[in-house]
Amino acid sequence: MATILQPTDENLLQMSKFLLSGGLVGIPTETVYGLAANALDPEASKKIFEVKNRPSNDPLICHVASQEEVDQICFPTDLARKLCDAFWPGPLTVILRKKSVVPEIVTAGLDSVAIRCSSHPVMRSLTRLCEFPIAAPSANPFAYISPTRAEHVETSLGNKIEYIIDGGPCEFGLESTIIDAREESSPRILRYGALSPEEIEDELGMEAQRPAKTASDNIPQIAPGILPKHYSPNSKLEVVSKILDLEKIATEDEDTAYLLLQKPRFETERNVFWLSESGRLQDIAANLFDVLRKMDTIGFSRIVAEEAKELGLGVAINDRLRRAAQD
Ligand code: TXA
Ligand code: MG
Repeated sequence: MATILQPTDENLLQMSKFLLSGGLVGIPTETVYGLAANALDPEASKKIFEVKNRPSNDPLICHVASQEEVDQICFPTDLARKLCDAFWPGPLTVILRKKSVVPEIVTAGLDSVAIRCSSHPVMRSLTRLCEFPIAAPSANPFAYISPTRAEHVETSLGNKIEYIIDGGPCEFGLESTIIDAREESSPRILRYGALSPEEIEDELGMEAQRPAKTASDNIPQIAPGILPKHYSPNSKLEVVSKILDLEKIATEDEDTAYLLLQKPRFETERNVFWLSESGRLQDIAANLFDVLRKMDTIGFSRIVAEEAKELGLGVAINDRLRRAAQD
């Protein structure tokens, strides 16, 4: 079992020292919980791959506190500066050309590095206390559902790490949006996430290239870790545009669970779950991984999930559902 720490000044200082000495810590961000290590320490970063059972060709995101730290590890473009000015601290990750100080293991041998500045107050404090960037992928076993609460990290990785900092439930509940900002005139979204494509395009005043529509069409060389199958429960998951006749089908087959976007108006069976009271996309996103984990713990043979409207945050919600449904 890991020790779950409250984010007091004293505990954060202790964790910054633990990270400096090569340790791994479960940390809260506004998107999902991360598994943190000193990004400039190759041995510590290597442990992240071991603990997550993550393939070594899947690079890590570096979390920074300041512009100085950005300049320390990469070559920012004007496009990146514009995006970061607008959306940092917040759920945006930019890909930029890396400097040699970043160990190869962190970037999986690529000459680019993924960088983000989290808006979670605990992560803000921790990155400021650490005089090095923090490498942190989501704190889930490779390909499983991402964690949005400290107890999710404990359940999945608690037997492999010593400390988890509890920063409460994550505000967004979906990972950051990743954008390749190396080419000034062609921003390219590599992963949909908590920041919608529309928000990015409005800010830039130009269109951003988007990832392929179906999960399996992604080009692995560009974003090595963005695999078709991801975020997956153990139960088999199926995504449908609308669940019809729910009252009837839910009682007929109790081994199948149904995941709705919005709370239904009628009394439901134990195999019916929902992601929001009112259908608000922010609530749906914030609850998605938590509810999927709950359903998976019960162990239904099949989960049928309803997709969101393909607009705003709905794009990232559907992306996660489709990947979770991949064989
Ligand atoms: O919200 C988030 O981004 C969370 C929190 C903890 O910050 N982190 C996260 O990390 O989602 P992770 O490792 O689960 O996903 C990072 C993705 C991977 O798919 C990886 O392949 C991609 O970022 N990535 C990292 N470096 C890259 C690079 N240089 N070029 C292209 N893709 C990269
Ligand atoms: Mg992840």
